[in-house]
Amino acid sequence: MDYERFVEEQVAQIRHAVGDATAINALSGGVDSSVVTVLGHRALGDRLKTYFIDDALMRQAEPERVVKTFGKMGIHVEVVDAKREFLRALRGLTDPEQKRQAVTETFYRKVFGRLVRQTGARFLLHGTILTDIEETVAGIKRQHNILSQIGIDPQDEYGYAVLEPLGSLRKDGVRAVAKVLGLPPEISERMPFPGPGLAARIVGEVTEARLRTVRAATEIVEQELADSGAFQCMAVLLSDYATGVRNDKREFGQIVVVRCVDSLDARVATVTRLPWEKLERVCARITQIEGVNRCLYDLTPKPPATIEYV
Ligand code: XMP
Repeated sequence: MDYERFVEEQVAQIRHAVGDATAINALSGGVDSSVVTVLGHRALGDRLKTYFIDDALMRQAEPERVVKTFGKMGIHVEVVDAKREFLRALRGLTDPEQKRQAVTETFYRKVFGRLVRQTGARFLLHGTILTDIEETVAGIKRQHNILSQIGIDPQDEYGYAVLEPLGSLRKDGVRAVAKVLGLPPEISERMPFPGPGLAARIVGEVTEARLRTVRAATEIVEQELADSGAFQCMAVLLSDYATGVRNDKREFGQIVVVRCVDSLDARVATVTRLPWEKLERVCARITQIEGVNRCLYDLTPKPPATIEYV
């Protein structure tokens, strides 16, 4: 595929679709939304307003990192603090699809709805890719960012139109476009991170305390496995507890799963054969997190498992 041409075509299409109106987009710092942000700014300049939605489900220090990286490229990113709204929407929910639904509704109806009203924007630029569409349509999982493909008309439901310039690409294609756009490797090669964020890595209820635990474990896994060359690695907090011993006392503690997979485009995945010493080190560090006394390595490929847990 000619990615230079893809960029030109998408820039022209965004310009054509938006006309002299304004648009907004949400940037998470992942490769998909980063590519959309740069394409959108090429097409619309200041008529695109870019927001980082702090939904409480992000990794450590993520808002600061994203604002700084894009600031260096001359793109202003405004941080919207929506932590309480998301935590409230997720309170008490344990069913995976209900959790995803709560994240979707809070993003699209509440937060974007409000931003659209505040800015007068008529369009939302979206980082949806082909794999997201296919898996949702096939009923495997409701990706948080799929709307029209499952019969939701964003114009009717939420009051704005959605443009999806990456809807024909898979992850490898998006990375190629990122390079053409001159995005730095820490973005173009960044591991995928799901839209529902750490909520996709907490089995059971999402609470602030459980988010702190999975965020700390995620930081350790990403640090330790940064050089693994894997497609994606993560930490997952289970809702089960297990008996352990700490300081000579019995402890009924939490269980963290480490998952690390190789894949081309996330449709299928195999488990990365990590060195045993590496796994032991990850385990030693994760079980130092307060309340966690077990760490497991997931050996399941996709299929039958999916990459995320929720
Ligand atoms: P699964 O868990 O379905 O994940 O095997 C496949 C790939 O998609 C990512 N993923 C998501 N990305 N919104 C996204 O933008 C979502 O709701 C979502 N759920 C999963 C996942 O991290 C993996 O790379």
